[in-house]
Amino acid sequence: MYYPDDIVEEVREKNNIVDVISGYVRLQKKGNTYFGLCPFHNEKTPSFSVTPSKGMYYCFGCGAGGNVFTFLMNYENATFVEAVKTLADRAGIKLPEVEVTEEMKKAAGEKATLLEINKEAAKYFYYALRSDHGKVGLKYLQDRKLTEETMKNWGLGYSDKYSNDLVKYLESKGYSDEMIVKSGLASRDEAHGTHDKFWNRVMFPIQDLNHRVIGFGGRVMGEGEPKYLNSPETPIFEKRRNLFGLNFARSSKKGHIILCEGYMDVISMHQAGFNEAVASLGTAFTPEQAVILKRFTDTVILSYDSDGAGTKAALRAIEILRNMDMTARVLDLKPYKDPDEFIKNLGAEAFEERIKNAKNSFAFEIEILRRDYNLDDPDEKTKFHREIAKKLCGIQDEVARNNYLESVCREYGIASDVMRKTVVEYASKTGLAKPAIRPKSSMHEKMPPDEGVKKAQRILITWISDEPAVYSKIKEYIDPSDFTEELYSRVAKEVIDGIADGGLNPASLVSKFDSEEEQKEVASLFNTKITGLDGQPLEMSTIQEKERALRDIVIKIKENSNEYYKNKSADMTALSKVLEGKKKLEKLRKTTISLE
Ligand code: UTP
Ligand code: MN
Repeated sequence: MYYPDDIVEEVREKNNIVDVISGYVRLQKKGNTYFGLCPFHNEKTPSFSVTPSKGMYYCFGCGAGGNVFTFLMNYENATFVEAVKTLADRAGIKLPEVEVTEEMKKAAGEKATLLEINKEAAKYFYYALRSDHGKVGLKYLQDRKLTEETMKNWGLGYSDKYSNDLVKYLESKGYSDEMIVKSGLASRDEAHGTHDKFWNRVMFPIQDLNHRVIGFGGRVMGEGEPKYLNSPETPIFEKRRNLFGLNFARSSKKGHIILCEGYMDVISMHQAGFNEAVASLGTAFTPEQAVILKRFTDTVILSYDSDGAGTKAALRAIEILRNMDMTARVLDLKPYKDPDEFIKNLGAEAFEERIKNAKNSFAFEIEILRRDYNLDDPDEKTKFHREIAKKLCGIQDEVARNNYLESVCREYGIASDVMRKTVVEYASKTGLAKPAIRPKSSMHEKMPPDEGVKKAQRILITWISDEPAVYSKIKEYIDPSDFTEELYSRVAKEVIDGIADGGLNPASLVSKFDSEEEQKEVASLFNTKITGLDGQPLEMSTIQEKERALRDIVIKIKENSNEYYKNKSADMTALSKVLEGKKKLEKLRKTTISLE
């Protein structure tokens, strides 16, 4: 880590987690905990919790969790060092200047190094575009009517024809071959060694929400295959979670976002004043991207090609947006293929007009459907109307359903009361009311034995950290080595040590784990619902019920740990652990644990 632990800890302590998260999520207080809608997955009822006494957040729906640093890292896609800096700023803490050595860079994490490599590469391509070799690229972009200012804003560049320039440059900056390959900017094989991946292409740097370059798209000059070559997935380049142009579009005041297919489309649109345009990264639009867009807007206007593939992609995007309770509308750019060509030919005003006339998603779906039927044939016409009724049934919101019904009937000259009847008929035949979604209760379902033990371990860790007095009642039976998951055992040790010296601090513990996955798991260990092994919540239970539940949990953990160490038989410490464990189990089975 760049910064000493005590400073990191000070930064954490001076940033109240409720205040920080309230800047992003609306929270409501319930007892000692705050609840809100989870910003990391789509939900309608709040399962995202923030517990100030623990300094942690945890989502009971998707399992996202951690401390203030983890939150910023996930929400802003920041590295740990960046999160520390932001929060230090926020609390007015001056961080020490650290001289960054190679070793520290390494410790700061692979992600930070990959970000640096991408930044260096972006600079390299940028200057190459303005060099002699880059003339062909510059001319290409000028021919596509991009202004100097646009090229500069988007950091466009050029990758040279002469293979290996970039690799050499990055090596001269001190990056290892291994990291250069990992960044996706180079490949390595027997015949050529480590060599540049992008070659004679104009380069589009892809930036995350915070304007950091995380990857590239490179367009071939003229004809050639593939037309666009993109960086592969890397630890910093997750195509599912990023959108090209969103770093600018997020501050657009248009009230909607335009989602299109190509990098060039986004850039042309911004140049023409449509700064609300974004594109996915050479892949289909994902639910993760929808979750991110929803932070900025509820309305997305789709601008996909009008060919078969584009239509299919639009229909899929509509479905994703609808699941997020977002509004989708669809642009019609005929006779042009994409926004770039449209704007070049008809200009910004005509484009603005098309935005105003964008079709609502339902009308778009029906229009696509309509192509499958010959409406001169009465039978086909009936089928078409039935299909419309079926689609209307799929719309949950009654007001929306009614409005769509009215508008589709108007468009296709259908009597709306007839359609209403067809809808009702269809609904009663198929049971329109979708099966009620039952609350999930994982403990009531049968789970693999392993999961049961893990759950018992999680309950116990949460329980003793919430009520340290409980630990004193069971400490003769349980120690950290009984938690057979390595991460659980580490956490249990910290908790138990913390209880012993009165310094239990869950939030600071989170930062001792490096990966997001681990931090999430640590958070879950402090936020497990305290239940018996049968899944019954214990808040309202009598003391006797609690005592029984606790004893069952301890026995379950102990039995498992005994099995575990028995299998490690060759080891002497394991053997004595088993013998001792057996005695304790016998005692446990005979006694009750008193919580009085
Ligand atoms: P299109 O083929 O529609 O190209 O690809 P375009 O945006 O109109 O490009 P120009 O105008 O000819 O330069 C749309 C998007 O699909 C991805 C890229 O993200 C591109 O921006 N794509 C396309 C690829 O990833 N690889 C390809 O070979 C082609
Ligand atoms: Mn195009």
